[in-house]
Amino acid sequence: MNTRAMSLPRPQVRERSSGARRPVAAAKAPQLVVVIPTYCERANVGELVRRLRVVLHGIRWEAVFVDDDSPDGTARVIRGIGHKDRRVRCLQRLGRRGLAGACIEGMLASNAPYIAVMDADLQHDETILPRMFEHLREGGAQLVVATRYGGAGGIGEWEASRAAISRHATHLSHLVYQHPVSDPMSGFFMLKRDLFEEAMRELSTSGFKLLLDILASIKHPIQIAEVPYTFRSRTHGESKLDSVVVWDFAMLMLDKLLGRYVPMRFVAFSLVGGAGIAVHMAAVTLLLKFTTLGFPAGQSLAAVLTMVFNYAVNNVLTYRDQRRSGLSWLTGLVSFMAACSLGAFANVTIATFAFSRHVPWALAALAGIIVGAVWNYAMTSRFTWGKARAVG
Ligand code: GDD
Ligand code: MN
Repeated sequence: MNTRAMSLPRPQVRERSSGARRPVAAAKAPQLVVVIPTYCERANVGELVRRLRVVLHGIRWEAVFVDDDSPDGTARVIRGIGHKDRRVRCLQRLGRRGLAGACIEGMLASNAPYIAVMDADLQHDETILPRMFEHLREGGAQLVVATRYGGAGGIGEWEASRAAISRHATHLSHLVYQHPVSDPMSGFFMLKRDLFEEAMRELSTSGFKLLLDILASIKHPIQIAEVPYTFRSRTHGESKLDSVVVWDFAMLMLDKLLGRYVPMRFVAFSLVGGAGIAVHMAAVTLLLKFTTLGFPAGQSLAAVLTMVFNYAVNNVLTYRDQRRSGLSWLTGLVSFMAACSLGAFANVTIATFAFSRHVPWALAALAGIIVGAVWNYAMTSRFTWGKARAVG
């Protein structure tokens, strides 16, 4: 028998003067969580909460802001609001970036059976939230998409180039899902928790395209409703969506099509490595032509330049969600170069060994390249960008 446990003091139960125990009335849990990713939105969050209070009147709601440690102090502003209104919470993530991952963590941090996702910058028309909610609660829908491309919706004042990219991507995205949705790139949608839970383990945490990812992960037909709205222009802050969004989109598409067979990060890493070969060749050519360096020195310098190129490009593309900056960029470079130097050594050793066993030279070289690439990927994914490194 556990005598220690028996000697512990009994928890104190508050009793009313009559002596009857009364359970403390629990505040009712929210029905709807609005998940709002933020990066440098301090000027927008206050106004958004004011608007949510008005439009969601009559619904038990909460707002979970997910802030990736914005340098402008957005998290502090959100907590300030949360001090006065407990429906407002801030989930602050350190050392990570990414809209999709932020939304997923916000969804997981709440109990609410209905989940909305919207931007913090007031570009999404919050007045349609109650209608979206009705579709889920009473209309039998499992997912509601706020659409810019259906009914009376619109893209507002977008530049022609962005409008064209968005249109093409929308068409292409039909390759990876079957559902009837006019705006699969929408960052504004609402769904039932069951549906999210069905998809959540399949979702990629990098990139912007969470809704598209959910649509591609759910293979069976579901009930979807759409509510049109017009995308507003931003008044404070700026868009974080840059040209890399095209790369993000391509990687998500490839992941959904091929991800079962090869990890997409490895594909991205190999593509960057392939581009690195071109950089290396160009560097050797230029060094031999315009400097007095001999071949060995030229080749070595070109190899160093190529490693810097590969590191810098992988940092902004392949590992965008864990990208290093400032001093951490430099220490990352050192670990990348150390890993890749060992990779080059493994490459040469394997190839030389194979060649000595009468494997044709091209095959021997290829074997060396594959072993070196896998080594570099495995080591840098763990030590340069992976969980093994400290935050920062
Ligand atoms: N936590 C977190 N981390 N939030 C982020 C990050 C990030 O790395 N990047 C952007 N956000 C937040 C912004 O603060 C904003 O609240 C929201 O995500 C959308 O970012 P914007 O930078 O304003 O995107 P946009 O307006 O250009 O793009 C919108 O339209 C796209 C469709 O064309 C968004 O709704 C996208 O989700 C949507 O795909
Ligand atoms: Mn925006």
